[in-house]
Amino acid sequence: MIPKETINKIFEAARVEEVVGDFITLKKRGVNLLGLCPFHGEKTPSFTVSPVKGIYKCFGCGKAGNSVNFIMDHLQLTYPEALKWLAKKYSIEVVEKEITPEEKEKQTERDSMLIVMQYAQRYFSENMHTTDEGKSIGLGYFVERGLSNNIIEKFQLGYSSQERRAFTEAAVKAGYQPKYLASTGMSILSNNHVEGTEITVKDVFDRYAGRVMFPIQDDGGRVVAFGGRTLSSDKKVAKYINSPETDIYNKSKILYGLWLGKKSIQQTDLCYLVEGYMDVIAMHQAGIENVVASSGTSLTIEQIKSIHRFTKNIVVLYDGDEAGQKASNRAIPLLLEEGMNVKLLMFPDNDDPDSFSRKVTIEEFKNYLEKNVQDFLLFKAKKLNVETKNDPIKRAGVIKDIVESIALIPDNIIRSIYVKDCANVMEIEESILQMEVNKIRRKAGSKGNTGTSAQDQSQTFNENKNVFTEDLTQEKEEKEILKFDNEEKELLRIMITHGNVLINIDAEDSENEDHSLEIAVAEYILFELWRDEIVFENPIHQTVLDEYISELANQRLPDLQHFSNSQNPLISTFVINHIHSNHELSVRWKSFGVLVSTEVSNIKKGTQHLLFSLKEKKLNQYILEKQDLLKTSADEETQGILRDILHLTTLKSRVNKLLGRIVIK
Ligand code: UTP
Ligand code: MN
Repeated sequence: MIPKETINKIFEAARVEEVVGDFITLKKRGVNLLGLCPFHGEKTPSFTVSPVKGIYKCFGCGKAGNSVNFIMDHLQLTYPEALKWLAKKYSIEVVEKEITPEEKEKQTERDSMLIVMQYAQRYFSENMHTTDEGKSIGLGYFVERGLSNNIIEKFQLGYSSQERRAFTEAAVKAGYQPKYLASTGMSILSNNHVEGTEITVKDVFDRYAGRVMFPIQDDGGRVVAFGGRTLSSDKKVAKYINSPETDIYNKSKILYGLWLGKKSIQQTDLCYLVEGYMDVIAMHQAGIENVVASSGTSLTIEQIKSIHRFTKNIVVLYDGDEAGQKASNRAIPLLLEEGMNVKLLMFPDNDDPDSFSRKVTIEEFKNYLEKNVQDFLLFKAKKLNVETKNDPIKRAGVIKDIVESIALIPDNIIRSIYVKDCANVMEIEESILQMEVNKIRRKAGSKGNTGTSAQDQSQTFNENKNVFTEDLTQEKEEKEILKFDNEEKELLRIMITHGNVLINIDAEDSENEDHSLEIAVAEYILFELWRDEIVFENPIHQTVLDEYISELANQRLPDLQHFSNSQNPLISTFVINHIHSNHELSVRWKSFGVLVSTEVSNIKKGTQHLLFSLKEKKLNQYILEKQDLLKTSADEETQGILRDILHLTTLKSRVNKLLGRIVIK
C-alpha cells in the first residue's frame, strides 16, 4: 500500500489543471479553465477545470473528479496505478509499505511482465532492422506490403527469428527471468517442465519464431501483448498468433490502435472500427488515425465503452462479401445498446481497408470513406425490404429483426427518428413499427434490465402479458428513491462540511429530566438516523454515509478532502458534484429558506428541518404501504394493520408539529 503521507504529497503536487492539461487543451475562462471533454465527443467545450477547488467537471456528460480520478478514467488505471503514474510525473518517491506479501508479489509480477514486454518489443524491432534475416524476411515483408519506414517505426513493428529459441535465450541472457517469459506468454513452457519446480531457460522456447510482430499497447501506451503473423502461406499454419490473456493483457478491454488513435478519434468525433492489425496500420498510412481493431476477439461491451469515452460515432468497416452476415453479428446490437451512432461501410469485392487502400490513391481512399458510409439500420431495412418483397412470411421476420435493433437504442428521440425512417423504407405504417418497438422496450424495461441481448429480446417478443403493470412498478420504485434525494444529500453535505460544529439539543435523561446537551452536528444526525433505523434510499448516499461512519469508528472526523480524494469513484464523484459546488448549494438552501452566509448559525434548525422532513416522508411511505397491504390482506390481519396505520399517523402528526415549530430566519 502507498503510505498516506505519500498520497497526500501526490495530491498536493498534482495540480488538476496541469494533469488535465497534459491531455487536453485548456483555455482560461474566468477563474476556471475550459476545454473539450475527453470522455464524450463534443464540439463546443463544456469541460471545466477549477484550479481553486482542484477538480474538473464536464457539464456535457457529467463526468467529474480530481486529478487522480482523471488519470484513472483517462488512462484506465486503478487507483494505486494512477497514484504511481502521478508520482512519477512529479518525481515523488513511492515507498510502499504494509502490503501483504501476496499483493506485493502480484504487483512486482505485473511490473516485471511489463518490463519483459518492453524488452521484447525493442528486441524484435532491433532484430528486424539490424540482422540479415530480419532485414530480408521481416522488413522485406512489410515493405512489400507497402508500409513506409515511418509507419513501421510508429507501430513499433518487428520480427522474431526462425530459430525457435532465439528470443528466449537473448532475453534470459539480458537478465529476464524465464518465469516471466512464460507468464507473459512470450515464450511457451515446455511439457517437460515439472509443475511447481523453478522454470529455467531449458523449459521455455519462443512462441512467435519466424513471425512478424505487432505490439499491442494498452491505453497508457504500454506494450501488453503481441500479434505475430506467419509469413507462410500454408493454410495449416495459424495466420496470426496472439498473446494469451495474462495479468497485464485483458483481451476484452484492449483495442488495437486506441493509444495511437484516441486523439484523432476525439478531434474528429468519429471512430472507424476495422477487423485487423494491417487495416489499422494501412489507414494510418493513408492519414486516417481515428481507427481501432478489436484484434482477434469479437467486439466486447468494455471495448465499446472505451471508444465511447471519445466519441459516439462509429463506422464499421467490413469486407465486401461477408458484409451481410457480419453486420448482423454480435457487434452491432452491442453498439446500438451503448447508444452509439452506428454507420456501416463496405469495400468492393473481397477487399479489406488495407488491400483497398493499396489499390487507390490516398485521395480516392478518403473520398471512398466519405461517400460510402451508410446508416446501419437504414441499410439493413433497405436490403431486407428488397430481399423479402414478395414473401409475406419472411417479411414479418424481417420487420421483427429491425424492430429489435431499433428497440436497443437508448435515446428516445433518435429511436423515434429511426422508427419513422425505417417505416418509410420498409413501406409499413409508422405507428405499427412504433408499437412493436414499444412492446419490446416495455418488456425489457420491466425486467429491470436494459442490458438485454438481442437474443433475450427475440424470446420476449411474443409474450407481452402484464407489461403495463410491471412497467409502472419499476417507475414507482425509481420515484421512491428520488423522493428522499434532497434531504439525504443535504444531510450528507452538512455532515461533511460542518460535521464538527457543536449544537445544543434538548435531551431527556433516564429520570425523565430535561436538560441541554452539547453535541457535534454529525453525531446528532447519526443518532437520529440510527434511532429511527433510517437507511438512505439512494445507494450512493448510503455508501457515503457508511464511509463517514467507518471513519468515525476509527477515531477520525472525515472532511471534504477525505471524500473528494476517495478511491471509490462513486464517493468522490458524488462529493465533487453535490458538495463542492457552492452554486448548487446556495440554490438548494434557498429552497429551504436558508441563506448560505447564515448557514452555520442556523445549522441546528437546518439540520432538524431536514431530519424531520425526511422522517415525515418516510412515515408517509410506510402509511401508504400499509394502506396498500390493507387492500389485499385477509380479514384477521386487518385489525393489526389498521392499528399500525393509526400509530404511524400519530407519529406523523407529531413530526409535523415539530417541523412547523422550526422557523428558519
Ligand atoms: P484477417 O484474416 O482478415 O487478416 O483477420 P488481415 O487482418 O486481413 O491480415 P492480413 O492482411 O492477411 O495480414 C482479421 C484479424 O483477425 C485476427 C487478427 O487480429 C487479424 O488482423 N486473426 C486472424 C487472428 O487473431 N488469428 C488468425 O489466425 C486470423
Ligand atoms: Mn488484410
